Amino acid sequence: MNIIVTGGAGFIGGNFCHYMTEKYPEDTILCIDKLTYAGNMETLALIMDKPNFKFFQADIADRESINKIFEEEKPDIVVNFAAESHVDRSITDPEVFLRTNIIGTSVMLDACRAYGIKRYHQVSTDEVYGDLPLDRPDLFFTEETPIHTSSPYSASKAAADLLVQAYARTYHLPCTISRCSNNYGPYQFPEKLIPLIISNVLNDKKVPVYGNGENVRDWLYVDDHCIAIDLIIRKGTVGEVYNIGGHNEKTNLEVVKTVLAKLGKSEELISYVADRLGHDRRYAIDPTKIHKELGWLPTTTFETGIQKTVDWYLNNRTWWENIISGEYIDYYEKMYGNR
Ligand code: NAD
Ligand code: DAU
Repeated sequence: MNIIVTGGAGFIGGNFCHYMTEKYPEDTILCIDKLTYAGNMETLALIMDKPNFKFFQADIADRESINKIFEEEKPDIVVNFAAESHVDRSITDPEVFLRTNIIGTSVMLDACRAYGIKRYHQVSTDEVYGDLPLDRPDLFFTEETPIHTSSPYSASKAAADLLVQAYARTYHLPCTISRCSNNYGPYQFPEKLIPLIISNVLNDKKVPVYGNGENVRDWLYVDDHCIAIDLIIRKGTVGEVYNIGGHNEKTNLEVVKTVLAKLGKSEELISYVADRLGHDRRYAIDPTKIHKELGWLPTTTFETGIQKTVDWYLNNRTWWENIISGEYIDYYEKMYGNR
């Protein structure tokens, strides 16, 4: 099969390309990525020369380029990871989120309609459900939880989900959607919490914690997300939404303190800074559906996953040092300079 993976030079898409090229040597992975600030060819270095991997630099919102790839490569399956993915950037500059996350998704869906595919899978997020109160640990996001977004990022992802559902109903496009909780692991861009903590600490910088650090995220090791998506595209039911998460809720402070301890650093490095605007309080996924229907359960505990992640950043300094020496310096100053 020919499988298009968009956003494959990013964090999760990159891990998915590694996973798929290794697991399915008989399939060809066609990676499409615009190479924005978040895309990095170094993430794909280990698989670039594999015979079952091809890379195309293209913008998913550029209809002509996308149609050309579909015409030439005749994909069977499309997995759409490509997105602007960072909430803080969406608060500062929403427009590009609308273009990539909404228009880009519509261009991909149109190409799938025009050229025919067996499956279109939309990689969505638990953020489309909004947030849960901190004092109701009994509440979880199910697939029936109403869409109720908080940030321009989550609003753009929700809009994309609704488009996918519209194409499924109106044009009978064979679509599935997955909504996953926070991922962590190798190749994550150091603007996101866990790699930001590691890279700051290793550069003797403070670790900025928004507000009081009591916001809760539900962390999943990236390999488990990849396994879940692979299961959904092969065995999931067309038209369905699947939540992905492993009941691994932690406050941001717990995460920060765990990583500091793994690196043997003092909690005095924690610096409380102004809160994120509209900051979602708690995310927590109920993964019952994917467990019951597809037998998925996470395979990596937080204890193991966080150790593997810290080790990866320690052993791959060049990967992230190249990133934080570029455009990221301006971003960091703008985001944290006066906070
Ligand atoms: P990322 O920011 O690390 O990577 C995004 C990739 O998409 C980059 O390689 C970038 O170059 C590419 N891209 C951006 N705009 C593009 C465009 N117009 N055309 C083609 N490529 C473009 O993101 P990530 O964290 O790997 O997230 C991947 C997907 O998973 C996103 O759709 C995100 O919403 C979703 N998701 C992420 C998480 C998480 O914790 N990171 C959790 C749930 C869902
Ligand atoms: O839940 C899934 C979502 O998880 C994905 O859809 C997003 O693409 C992904 O970026 C992630 O969103 P978050 O906003 O939860 O991730 P982030 O790493 O930016 O922040 C995690 C938490 O840590 C959040 O509560 C904000 C806080 N934070 C973040 C940064 C960057 C800090 O306290 N300090 C920081 O410097």
